[in-house]
Amino acid sequence: MQTKTPVGILGATGIVGQRFVQMLEHHPWFEVAWLAASDRSEGRPYGEAARWRMKTPIPPRLAEMQVSPAQPGGAPKIIFAALDAAIAAELEPRFAEAGCAVVSNSSALRMQSDVPLVVPEVNAEHVKLLACQSWRRKSGGFVVTNPNCSAIGLVMALAPLEQHFGIETVMAVTMQAVSGAGYPGVASLDILGNVIPYIAKEEEKMEEETRKLLGRLNGAKVVPAAFGMSAQCNRVSVEDGHTESVSVKLKKKAAPEEIIEAWNDFRSVPQELKLPSAPEQPVRYIAAADRPQPRFDVDSGQGMTATIGRLRPCGVLDWKFTVLSHNTIRGAAGAALLNAELLKVRGYLD
Ligand SMILES: NC(=O)c1ccc[n+]([C@@H]2O[C@H](COP(=O)([O-])OP(=O)(O)OC[C@H]3O[C@@H](n4cnc5c(N)ncnc54)[C@H](OP(=O)(O)O)[C@@H]3O)[C@@H](O)[C@H]2O)c1
Repeated sequence: MQTKTPVGILGATGIVGQRFVQMLEHHPWFEVAWLAASDRSEGRPYGEAARWRMKTPIPPRLAEMQVSPAQPGGAPKIIFAALDAAIAAELEPRFAEAGCAVVSNSSALRMQSDVPLVVPEVNAEHVKLLACQSWRRKSGGFVVTNPNCSAIGLVMALAPLEQHFGIETVMAVTMQAVSGAGYPGVASLDILGNVIPYIAKEEEKMEEETRKLLGRLNGAKVVPAAFGMSAQCNRVSVEDGHTESVSVKLKKKAAPEEIIEAWNDFRSVPQELKLPSAPEQPVRYIAAADRPQPRFDVDSGQGMTATIGRLRPCGVLDWKFTVLSHNTIRGAAGAALLNAELLKVRGYLD
């Protein structure tokens, strides 16, 4: 029997950290061997330190595991990181320097020119940037990142359009779930019965990350995609799932059936490689006039499929539609897991 590769989770007690624990419980290749968080949690059993918010029970083996200090000494070589950006900026380089493969969710290093920002269905070849990282040359360690939870849904919808028709302009308005703010996140008195039209730094992240993801790898850098883009981000009273109303202008004329076919037929590297976390259908179009809705569609493809609906002509740009994706699965832990699976198959975790 093949043994599984030991992995660690940095920021294991948070919402994304818990999602990692849940998604890794039955993973065929990886096994959680180390959990770390802040000094508030350090030294305590994980089951006591984490306020478990997943809908499946906490895995008993991990509930008893002691939370380690967030330092590379004693950590496994593969680290899934789910830290706040400010802490990640300090800790992720430290782990990479110590020889760890850091698969990160945080925004801290996403836009650094030698750090790949990857969605394997969209830009798997960008992992080649790892060769440019000084950590990689010195200790073998590196940092690879996945995008912000709202950029990921958008980019899943845009990639097939860019491939088939080319994109000239994108406008996106988000309705983002409360779990996107972590735990305890937004106070209930602020969000219940309310919409908050501001999420710090989110609009900037969506715009620059979308362009980097759809950009072209040119030697040691990514040339960002050149289309015009405007994002507006709102927090709404939904538990899981970011919904986005999107308008696009395409370079080439397209009929609605061609656009829907481009989405439904979209398959890429994770599907070809049959990566364990890859959804069979990364993007699906749903015809019902009032879908997608988080309540019904967020778990599509075990939370890894982006669901699109309501394609119709736009009076200003060419087309408008709605896309929904699961923010803590496709937008966070599942995204990082898929990145790690890609890295393993490509030999970066050996
Ligand atoms: N939630 C989402 O949908 C989502 C999606 C994509 C990306 N992200 C990104 O993923 C990261 C984590 O998000 P989250 O929603 O899981 O946040 P969260 O629920 O607030 O969790 C934060 C985690 O960081 C740990 N931490 C805080 N200070 C630390 C320190 N000084 N040293 C070590 N660990 C420390 C916390 O440990 P303690 O419990 O010990 O304090 C906790 O485990 C963020 O960068 C976020 O932007 C989140």
